[in-house]
Amino acid sequence: MRIDVVTIFPEYLEPLRVALLGRAIDRGLIRLDVHDLRDWTHDVHRAVDDAPYGGGPGMVMKPQVWGEALDDVAPEGTGARLVVPTPAGRPFTQSLAHEYASESHLIFACGRYEGIDQRVIDDAARRMPVDEVSIGDYVLVGGEAAVLVIVESVVRLLPGVLGNPASAKEDSFTGALHGLLEGPSYTRPERWRGLVVPDVLRSGDHAKIDRWRRDQALIRTFLRRPDLLDALPEEDLDAADRKL
Ligand code: ADE
Repeated sequence: MRIDVVTIFPEYLEPLRVALLGRAIDRGLIRLDVHDLRDWTHDVHRAVDDAPYGGGPGMVMKPQVWGEALDDVAPEGTGARLVVPTPAGRPFTQSLAHEYASESHLIFACGRYEGIDQRVIDDAARRMPVDEVSIGDYVLVGGEAAVLVIVESVVRLLPGVLGNPASAKEDSFTGALHGLLEGPSYTRPERWRGLVVPDVLRSGDHAKIDRWRRDQALIRTFLRRPDLLDALPEEDLDAADRKL
């Protein structure tokens, strides 16, 4: 998979070269190119923003600079998908992470200030799929931190990236738990600061352990994310779930 990021703070994306993602780059599973948006400016000040039409606070990123940058990074017919992080976007979810993991080329456009002139997005959408996405209902200073989040969640789904592929399969939101939050985990020692590992996990009875894990997932989801439980299709609940 190819990943391009266009930003005015290329150094902000350096963490993408650390740990799991760094290894994926070193092993050639992904190719990451981070571009400085100011390389496409033509004035001495290397200006990327201007005052908003209609007034109001803040500055808007200029269409000409972004237009040229995207023309170069994503020329017509490259088969890329453009992702623009913005608090005004549609929610980024695990299912969107899976969609992105099946793409061959993702391009991220990081906005700062009050955002990017809308025509940049509308123009790009004439030649490639474009998603404006939000990573949550809070406002960041720019799209860079959102790109770190999105890229990490996507790359860990690529074949060969995780040491144990079963880890991705058992995540909350997908796989065995299917839309439920994962319950608690424990490792040795059996007793620590007076707290003990639940007996069932040491019973060796795998059917009982599976049932316990599912109950914990249901309880945790009920307490922390009742919205997820409401969204669960009725047929995803078994008889024991319903009793709980
Ligand atoms: N840029 C600023 N806030 C954001 C958010 N919540 N999600 C994605 N991009 C953003």
